[in-house]
Amino acid sequence: MKLVFATNNLNKLKEVQMLIPSQIQLLSLADIGCTEDIPETSSTIEGNAKQKAHYIKQHYGYDCFADDTGLEVAALNGAPGVYSARYAGESRDANANMDKLLSELDGKENHNAQFKTVIALEINGKLKTFTGICKGKITHTKKGTGGFGYDPIFLPNGYSKTFAELPLNEKNKIGHRGKAVQLLINFLNP
Ligand code: IMP
Repeated sequence: MKLVFATNNLNKLKEVQMLIPSQIQLLSLADIGCTEDIPETSSTIEGNAKQKAHYIKQHYGYDCFADDTGLEVAALNGAPGVYSARYAGESRDANANMDKLLSELDGKENHNAQFKTVIALEINGKLKTFTGICKGKITHTKKGTGGFGYDPIFLPNGYSKTFAELPLNEKNKIGHRGKAVQLLINFLNP
């Protein structure tokens, strides 16, 4: 089975590749010659995931899945959420995003947060979604050098290390994207 994973994010690709069984041949956007930015104009995480998967099916004809992820912080009423990538501006700078989040939470007691990933799969003319959530806390400082995005400031519940300090296979086991990918694999039943 051939399936496109509609992402330009090499970190996401690496995480997902570790989980996908060999019966599924994963194609990247580079593999299918897609070099343009895929539109993400929805106001929800689910909407963006669906939009990205549908775009690839429509323009390139491949069965496809796409992931959209947001970090939802309780004390900020769920922000940055769907706007996580551009929280500190259009440059999508991970360090600037984390700095902004840490300063917004400065002095607030409640640091509870969750990562939410929605994977949208468009296959055989049908659109399905799979959601993975990982609950945890935002730290007071950045810790660790692994992972990407907000990983250095996210402490998953039950762990004393941030996602950026944990090995990738451990993040995948308990993480939002790993959970959503597992549901996708169960559905595909390759
Ligand atoms: P998107 O799903 O690529 O739109 O990601 C939205 C934002 O969340 C970006 O700033 C990403 O860097 C960040 N992000 C997505 N997935 C993760 C993750 O697994 N860990 C940390 N940050 C993430």
